[in-house]
Amino acid sequence: MNTRKFGRLGWDVSEIGFGAWAIGGGWGPQSEEDSILALHRALDLGCNFIDTAQGYGDGKSERIIAKVLRERNDDRVYVATKIPPRSPGAWPPSPYDAIEDRYPEDYLRERLERSLRDLGADCLDLVQLHTWTRAWNANPTALETLKKFQKEGKIRGIGISTPEHDQNSLVDLMRNGWLDSVQVIYNIFEQEPAAEFLPAARKHGVGVIVRVALDESSLGGKLTPGTEFPDGDFRRNYFAGDRLDRTVARVEKIRETIGTEERDVPTAALKFALKPDAVSTVIPGIRNVQQAERNCAVSDQPRMSDDLETRLREHRWLKSFWYSGK
Ligand SMILES: NC(=O)c1ccc[n+]([C@@H]2O[C@H](COP(=O)([O-])OP(=O)(O)OC[C@H]3O[C@@H](n4cnc5c(N)ncnc54)[C@H](OP(=O)(O)O)[C@@H]3O)[C@@H](O)[C@H]2O)c1
Repeated sequence: MNTRKFGRLGWDVSEIGFGAWAIGGGWGPQSEEDSILALHRALDLGCNFIDTAQGYGDGKSERIIAKVLRERNDDRVYVATKIPPRSPGAWPPSPYDAIEDRYPEDYLRERLERSLRDLGADCLDLVQLHTWTRAWNANPTALETLKKFQKEGKIRGIGISTPEHDQNSLVDLMRNGWLDSVQVIYNIFEQEPAAEFLPAARKHGVGVIVRVALDESSLGGKLTPGTEFPDGDFRRNYFAGDRLDRTVARVEKIRETIGTEERDVPTAALKFALKPDAVSTVIPGIRNVQQAERNCAVSDQPRMSDDLETRLREHRWLKSFWYSGK
């Protein structure tokens, strides 16, 4: 497993991190035994970065991580968690929401204490605000609160995870030095971060965590037009209506572009996400030992060729209804 620098925090983080949403729930049946074995296997293979959130099973993902880390004597494993905006309210936040209502100081403190407890830690490596709106860039009071927690020695790094529709929304905050890291969607379909985000992250020493490199599993290459998602799997909505058919058709075109140059579609998808130097770690969602092994192995393979990366750029997909039509 290769490592990369995590921005100005200077941590050496594994190129493949562990995306810990599914082990908390929301992806259909998931046994705790599989989750624990998968996490141990990834850590055995050199993964030293885990991304979780309070929202993943209402603390379940954090508690499973704490249990696994207690069972091990690893040199250093970095755990990034996320605090959601206060409910009730829109997700992602509406441009009319006041940051003082969604991330007030007393609420953030209560939430900080909650992650310290569930992760069994005295200090959290990285706290990310789970979502954001550009409307708050001019007055990011919640980040001042997190800086206060940092000074108190309760958190090491401060990050934000981008809202789903707006991957370049945090660039101003990065330029103004507010952020140690940003979590962003960057994959063969979603290439908007190449516009401003990736160069700005590099220039300003911001750690970059790439999420959804497998497009919520479509770039795992296993979905077909007949795939049915079980109850309790958020993909019933994500791939609802004709979205599944349209996505699978596009994945088949991507498979043709890859040909025999890479082992399979998920390998190519992870390598595509790892290709920019600005990226610190890519965190595929991992729910079993086989996925831990396959995904971690990607870092040991040669990087994707410039030529294939360029050809894959053609598969960029602006996936909103307005752009793509129905
Ligand atoms: N707003 C946010 O901040 C936010 C949002 C989303 C995700 N995240 C973070 O980013 C992480 C990654 O995103 P994600 O889990 O949503 O989506 P993803 O990484 O794009 O897809 C993960 C899914 O793909 C399948 N998969 C994994 N490895 C595979 C392989 N080698 N071959 C084929 N299929 C494979 C698994 O599902 P099956 O086994 O069911 O096929 C897995 O649950 C999350 O776990 C979470 O930590 C953050």
